Amino acid sequence: MPETQASTNVSPNPERSAILREAVEGVRSAFARGDLDGAAEICGMLVHVNPDEAAFRALQGQVLRAQGKSSDADAAETRAVAIVAKRLEKQAKRGRVLSLGERMLAFSDVLFLGGPPATFVALGQMQLLVMLEQGMESHHRVLDVGCGTLRAGIWLMKVLEKGNYFGIEPHQARLEFGKEHVAGPALMDRKQPRFDGNAAFDFSVFGERFDFVVARSVWTHTSKLQISAMLDAFAAHSAPGAVLLTSYLPVSAGRPDYLGEQWVGRSADSPVGGLVAHKTEWVQAACKQRGLRVRALEDHVVNGQIWLRIEQI
Ligand SMILES: C[S@@+](CC[C@H](N)C(=O)[O-])C[C@H]1O[C@@H](n2cnc3c(N)ncnc32)[C@H](O)[C@@H]1O
Repeated sequence: MPETQASTNVSPNPERSAILREAVEGVRSAFARGDLDGAAEICGMLVHVNPDEAAFRALQGQVLRAQGKSSDADAAETRAVAIVAKRLEKQAKRGRVLSLGERMLAFSDVLFLGGPPATFVALGQMQLLVMLEQGMESHHRVLDVGCGTLRAGIWLMKVLEKGNYFGIEPHQARLEFGKEHVAGPALMDRKQPRFDGNAAFDFSVFGERFDFVVARSVWTHTSKLQISAMLDAFAAHSAPGAVLLTSYLPVSAGRPDYLGEQWVGRSADSPVGGLVAHKTEWVQAACKQRGLRVRALEDHVVNGQIWLRIEQI
């Protein structure tokens, strides 16, 4: 079911709150039964009655995404974000100016940010730190695969020269949120990043050779086929001496080797979370097959995700 954070305490009237709570429960149970049309119908009613309630728009977005209507889902989620943004703007005018982390907490009610809001800033900055430690310099051309809400992108753009940050992200609502509310118009204008929405790990779209490629919390959702596509793309579109930094979950007692062919977890096509693990030996063999060397980094292991440094032999 969608992991909705839809608040039902949207009305000061307790009776109305109870009705709304029941309606949200109705959406959840219809979703759990696989009755997406039923869930969509209740969402439509909630939004019709409460057009300015961000939580209901967000819930509708999740149901639409599960129905495969990703552009309608983007529109619903973008509307939810706009409602929250307006509220924050009003607060700012009254003198309550929030930090990036505080703003992410407010937005996390209506949009998945790529991870928990409490660590949004730290995990974005950690990605920049790892890349700097591994040799990234401001003149390098950097591709962020699955760049999401620009959790890392904001910091990378700050450091990189104009025109050197590139991102691939198929989830349009997430990327638009990142441009507007994470990086913000001024940084976007100053650094002129480029983006693409392809879901095929096609790096050729930019017509560039990259010095660094980063993919945080991406191999934790990908199939082996998708990892192979990414390694092929890295081998084909990287500059001499280029480095791919990616995080993965090794196989463990509770996490078997993932042998499916689909992305697992939230994406442009799914509102449902999930994680996968891959055998280290398989990753090593896949790299070797393409003339690539792989080494696990000892530092910055967060949530069990280990960084891999991959480069041409
Ligand atoms: C867990 S999030 C991590 C986002 C980002 N790397 C970060 O650290 O915040 C994974 C991202 O990969 C994106 N994604 C899903 N399928 C993808 C694909 N086929 N190609 C590229 N990105 C994809 C998702 O939409 C999501 O934004």
